[in-house]
Order: sequence, then C-alpha cells, then structure tokens
Amino acid sequence: MKGIMQTSAGSIAEWQTADRPDPGPTVPDPGLAVCVRGLAKHYVHPWTLRVTRGLEALDLDVRRGEVMGLLGPNGAGKSTTLKLLTGLLKPTHGQAWLMGEPAESTASRRSLGFLPEQPYFYDYLNGLEYLELAAQLSGMQAGTARERARHWLGRVGLGERPRLGLRKYSKGMLQRLGLAAALVHDPELLILDEPMSGLDPFGRRDVRELITEQRERGVTVLFSSHILPDVEMLCDRVAIMIGGRLTRVATVGELVEDGAQAVEIRCAPGALLELPKHWVGLVSRTQRADESVFRLEDEAQLADVLGWLLQAGVQVRAVTPQRPTLETLFLAAAEAERERRSA
Ligand SMILES: Nc1ncnc2c1ncn2[C@@H]1O[C@H](COP(=O)(O)OP(=O)(O)O)[C@@H](O)[C@H]1O
Ligand SMILES: [Mg+2]
Repeated sequence: MKGIMQTSAGSIAEWQTADRPDPGPTVPDPGLAVCVRGLAKHYVHPWTLRVTRGLEALDLDVRRGEVMGLLGPNGAGKSTTLKLLTGLLKPTHGQAWLMGEPAESTASRRSLGFLPEQPYFYDYLNGLEYLELAAQLSGMQAGTARERARHWLGRVGLGERPRLGLRKYSKGMLQRLGLAAALVHDPELLILDEPMSGLDPFGRRDVRELITEQRERGVTVLFSSHILPDVEMLCDRVAIMIGGRLTRVATVGELVEDGAQAVEIRCAPGALLELPKHWVGLVSRTQRADESVFRLEDEAQLADVLGWLLQAGVQVRAVTPQRPTLETLFLAAAEAERERRSA
C-alpha cells in the first residue's frame, strides 16, 4: 500500500485502488454490440503439439442494430471467432466484449441468442419441451417459458406437431428449432453460425425472413455463412475472413463498386463480324439462336465497341452494365490472399 502520506489527487486514487482486483481492460467503445481487439486462437494438438492458427489478431466492431455477415471459405476461422465471442473457447490472445460486457463473463450472455454450427439436441425431448428448457435456462418462469416456447415453435413453422420427438425431426426442422431456441428469450444480440446450412430454398427464405424481422426490431445480428446470395441480401456490412485473418470489412455496395464495371451489349442475331485484334481479352462474343451478345470486361471500351457495331449496321437491342457479384469479388479476394501467402 502506498501514497497515504502524499496529497496529490492522482496518488490518492492510486492508493485507493491498489488492493482491488484487476478489473481487466475496459471496453474501447461501450456503444458497440460486439467489440473485438487483437483476438487470436491457436489450437495445440495434445500429442504432437502441432499448432493450428485458427484465428490471428482480429479487430472487429459490430454496431448496435447492424446485421453483419462473416464470410469465408471452410477453415477461415468463422466458427472459431463465434465460439470465442460466446465463451465456448478461451482466446490465446486478445479480448472481446458483447454489449459492453467482457465476452468471458456470464453477464455478456444475458442478452445473447446463439445458434452453434452443430447444435446439440436432446432427442428424447419433443420440440415444445426443448424450447421450454431453453427458455427456463435463460431465467424465465415456468408459465412464461411455456407460453414463449409455444409462440416460437409456431413462429418457425413447427407448431402443428408440438409433441413430435426430436429424434423424428429432419435436419431442416432441427435447424429451425435451434433458431427458435436462440430467439426464445428475445435477445438483443443474435450470433448465428451458418444458419442456412442444410436448408432447402424454402428453409433459407424462412431464415432470411426471421433475420430481417429481428433487424426491424433493432436486434444486432452477426452470422457466418459461405452462401453468398444470402449474405448479399441480408447484411449491412460484410467481414471477409480467409485463413484465420480478416481481410476486409465493407458494405456489400462498397465491395461491388470496387470491381471493374463490365457491360453487356445485346444485338440482333447474325452479327458475325470479325472482332478487331486489339480487343482480344477485353471483348468477347456469345452467339445464340436469337441474339448476339458482346461482353466488355471494362466499360472504358463501351463507346468504341458501340461505334463499331453501329457503323457495321448491327441492330443494338440493349446495353446493360454488369454488376460484379459478391461471389466474383469473394473468389478474387481469396485468390489474392493465397498469392500473398505464397509470395
Ligand atoms: N478444435 C480444434 N482443434 C484444432 N484445430 C481446429 C479446431 N477447431 C478448428 N480448428 C482449425 O482452425 C481453423 C479454423 O477453423 P473454423 O473456425 O472451424 O473455420 P470455419 O468455421 O471458417 O470453417 C481450421 O484450420 C480448423 O481446422
Ligand atoms: Mg464453421
């Protein structure tokens, strides 16, 4: 203990806190729903001691009310990140906060709904019992838990057979039940690991609707996926992970604007003109029964190509800018990262 004889304010504060337990690092911004600083996870094999770097130096902010997609190929570190956030794994380095609370604290899980990549279900229970259990585990009284369980079972389309045993559930039904369990206590933050995996197009649409509905209620959603159209449709921002590292955080619009703008020119059939040699690689042609389609990889050539077609008397029907898809951009980002690593 020190400083009692000193009079400066700083010293007294120092003395007053000297014997208290270390409160740990403070959250950089308590207004964020998810705040991650320098988070890393190295898995060590118990026998060979081989180290796998599942996640490296992740810094990530998710704002309240935002829908953020974690996008990455298999092994990118998405599940590792989400398990670290939900306290299922301990980080090798770094720190994370959920709703201003340290991710390792139980307080951080009070307003959290989580769907793991492979949820575990007690298959001797039925759907209603399972949701009631989930509701009670989150601290609800029995009566309210039953009422919420009924509501959510119906909401995810499983309400017609509430007593059906979970062993008789299909993969898609289990995925819906897992989602209902994540939502049964009205969380403020929803973390979902591959929520659309194993679902048919109807199931995927239902999950998209549920996420949209939660967003409208002001819930923050962080979900991982490698299904690009779903990410494109739902997310305010996308975080791209590759090989355990975050490579980019941007809105879908920003990502798409980055790519060179391609253009398609559709013409009446029969325009069998020889393409000038200096356009090889820049302009390609597809000949179909009912039309000829010229594709320009970069819109910079548009005026030249159009002038050339009109001069040759070709009937131009439509000129359409081709927005690069998230898929092309994602594959390009993955390729660039692979090249960076092998350099
Ligand atoms: N329990 C574990 N033990 C050892 N390595 C693991 C473990 N879990 C994940 N990994 C490794 O960490 C990396 C990231 O995995 P993961 O987070 O599951 O990726 P994703 O969810 O993006 O597919 C992969 O190389 C994976 O093999
Ligand atoms: Mg995963």
